[in-house]
Amino acid sequence: MRFGHFDDAAREYVITNPRTPYPWINYLGNDDFFGLISHTAGGYAFCKDARFRRLTRYRYNNVPWDDGGRYFYIQDGDCVWSPGWKPVRTELDEYRCRHGMSYTIIRGVKNGIEAEALFFVPLGTWAEVHQLTLTNRSQVARAVRVFSLVEWCLWNAHDDLNNLQRNLSIGEVEIDGSAIYHKTEYRERRNHYAFYAVNAPLAGFDTDRDAFLGPYNGFDSPAAVMEGTPRNSEAHGWSPIASHCVALHLQPGEAKTLVFLLGYVENADDQKWDRPGVIHKANARALIERFATPASVAAAFQELRSFWDGLLSRYVLDSGDARLDRMVNVWNQYQCMVTFNLSRSASYFETGIGRGVGFRDSNQDVIGFVHQVPARARQRILELAATQLPDGSAYHQYQPLTKRGNSDIGGDFNDDPLWLIFSTAAYIKETGDFSILDEQVPFDNDERAARPHFEHLKRAFSHTVDNLGPHGLPLIGRADWNDCLNLNCFSTDPNESFQTTSNRAGRTAESVMIAGQFVLYGREFVELCRRSGREQEALEAQRHVDAMVASVLEHGWDGEWFLRAYDFFGNRVGSRENEEGSIFIESQGFCAMAGIGLGEGKVEQALDSVNAWLDSDVGLVLHQPAFTRYRLEYGEISSYPPGYKENAGVFCHNNPWIMIGETVLGRGDRAFEYYRKIAPAYLEDRSDVHRLEPYVYAQMVAGRDAARPGEAKNSWLTGTAAWNYYAITQFILGIRPGYDALEVNPCIPRTWNGFTVTRIFRGVTYHIEVRNPRHVSKGIRRVSLDGDPMSGNTIPMLDPGSEHRVMVELG
Ligand code: BGC
Ligand code: NOJ
Repeated sequence: MRFGHFDDAAREYVITNPRTPYPWINYLGNDDFFGLISHTAGGYAFCKDARFRRLTRYRYNNVPWDDGGRYFYIQDGDCVWSPGWKPVRTELDEYRCRHGMSYTIIRGVKNGIEAEALFFVPLGTWAEVHQLTLTNRSQVARAVRVFSLVEWCLWNAHDDLNNLQRNLSIGEVEIDGSAIYHKTEYRERRNHYAFYAVNAPLAGFDTDRDAFLGPYNGFDSPAAVMEGTPRNSEAHGWSPIASHCVALHLQPGEAKTLVFLLGYVENADDQKWDRPGVIHKANARALIERFATPASVAAAFQELRSFWDGLLSRYVLDSGDARLDRMVNVWNQYQCMVTFNLSRSASYFETGIGRGVGFRDSNQDVIGFVHQVPARARQRILELAATQLPDGSAYHQYQPLTKRGNSDIGGDFNDDPLWLIFSTAAYIKETGDFSILDEQVPFDNDERAARPHFEHLKRAFSHTVDNLGPHGLPLIGRADWNDCLNLNCFSTDPNESFQTTSNRAGRTAESVMIAGQFVLYGREFVELCRRSGREQEALEAQRHVDAMVASVLEHGWDGEWFLRAYDFFGNRVGSRENEEGSIFIESQGFCAMAGIGLGEGKVEQALDSVNAWLDSDVGLVLHQPAFTRYRLEYGEISSYPPGYKENAGVFCHNNPWIMIGETVLGRGDRAFEYYRKIAPAYLEDRSDVHRLEPYVYAQMVAGRDAARPGEAKNSWLTGTAAWNYYAITQFILGIRPGYDALEVNPCIPRTWNGFTVTRIFRGVTYHIEVRNPRHVSKGIRRVSLDGDPMSGNTIPMLDPGSEHRVMVELG
């Protein structure tokens, strides 16, 4: 069942039934100022940091779900309705929500009045525009009242829900014409305020939530709206809100547009006040002025659209399969950008107060957006490196506002450091900019300890070498990529976190996944050493990589697949000898991508075992059999019910590792089959089962052991986005940036006749046509550049600004 459809030309998903199985959201903003907005206008906004600078309040896990947002109420005589259906839920004559690239348009029609609201954050602006157009589609003159509503958050989203003994006394607002200012705590340690303004005179306003709603009403029936009478309330403590009331008269056919602006301002310490108690509003007024007319809004909206045209012009596929094209050209890239911006902080599953910017997460995210905004990728990589500890290890996350690493969600995840090599290599391949290696970067944010970025990579590499276990395999530490395989945790206390506890400081538990990762990114490190003239270091690093390959072959092979780990006691994890958890996906993926044992058929055997054991209709599950009871020696993984999350759920993040592995073997049919099993556009018809947005990936889809296989959770902010993009664009379609040039080496289903890709790479536009007349998966028969035959499939670097035609024939 579907709840809408893709509009590919507009790059929108159009929701036509507001009763989706879960709120289907979108993101506003591209830099600093961000908003989450659901298809019924729920959600919230923040500037820079979802935890510390939350502008509007949102109650997670609320009943009914997704209550609170940017609401409009239209009071038309006895009929009160909202253009987004919620919160009032008056049945609409027409409803439509268009989620586009950083904007959302919600339109409702009731009794001949049409209301259309456009929501977006103008580029480089700390504000959301909410432009509301009302059109009288009836034959008679109409008089309606429009009420707006946002509820302020008292800035720190964690304390806002928590510290009520203080919060309920501190709320402060100012009302100035048609602008409502939120200035809680501005008198003391804050130099920032927020405002919600409209470009029309008010018939009234409210700033006190309980006065507006009435003490026993919800957002669905505010007393002020139901009675059509704003209370003109001034908040003192309790819960400040901003609600405007505008009276509109509309002749038949007439349309009127209101521009609302939800903004955020920081003032210098000596410019905080106009006079005692009255905030200095010049910056806010300038912003309000800038967006005072629909024409200025239209111009800013056009700018945003052009911005996205630019971002999405760098890899454009024409495959003849609309679902694949919309994933590759639009939605997967869009999700990668959102994930880059937000890391794992704010979604409808991440509360904005739990996790910030993850070290492992954001380094992996780089492969999904580096081609769109290479300069920002560079900056992010250096920010991440600046939180690295001197011994090469990493804090697991940093908070966006401070950019300092912290231990809130743990540390000592021994896969963490190696991802820094991966992201840096991806950045250099995209840009050719080796100068990043010379950039001075602090350790643990201590400027005095700054060293060239290369040194960070070296310590990341050495961290593995310095932390090997009894089999010469990397120690796992707290956990590796799989946060929940906690081999040193041994937790019997429900009050301690699996993420931050290790009750036994063992130096025995080893990870075969990290071993594969070390081989793969260790080779990348060797290459970087070579290319930066560090021949000696390259040789030495290569020796460690070779030794790791040998250790995996000797101690990491179980007979038909790669082992997953050795536990604290030195027992095998992910082995035939285990009744549950006999085979895991991660080590198969990494060892296959690294080609360990490729010549001896081990990669093929391992991936055949994956197919036999882990494949299902809804994707590849993480391991089999699922754990049916808690295993103290494995930790959180066995705490989830079978089929969910890391306990044998389909973790969409790691499926691409297997897809890429299949391309190493040249098996394009299988690679693509795995791809389409989890790509959201292919799941649209099953939206009632899948439940989450059909335009973005979710972290996890319930596996075959679960009660409802195929049901997704945790959409938007997940490494799934970047890895699937990387797998499809660079390995299946096979257009891959290298250090010196673009390589073309597709591995596709044999049935395909071919495809074309336009790729802008280091300023050069390549129109690449891949032909598959012999219906093979992989292998290059001939290549031509601008009509001239070429040897090899590496396309030389050409003049920036130039355009070229590349023809690749498989066979
Ligand atoms: C989840 C992981 C997640 C981690 C974050 C675990 O409980 O299962 O998927 O990465 O928490 O803290
Ligand atoms: C989600 C986390 O963000 C990611 O870092 C981790 O690798 C996966 N969960 C798997 O546990």
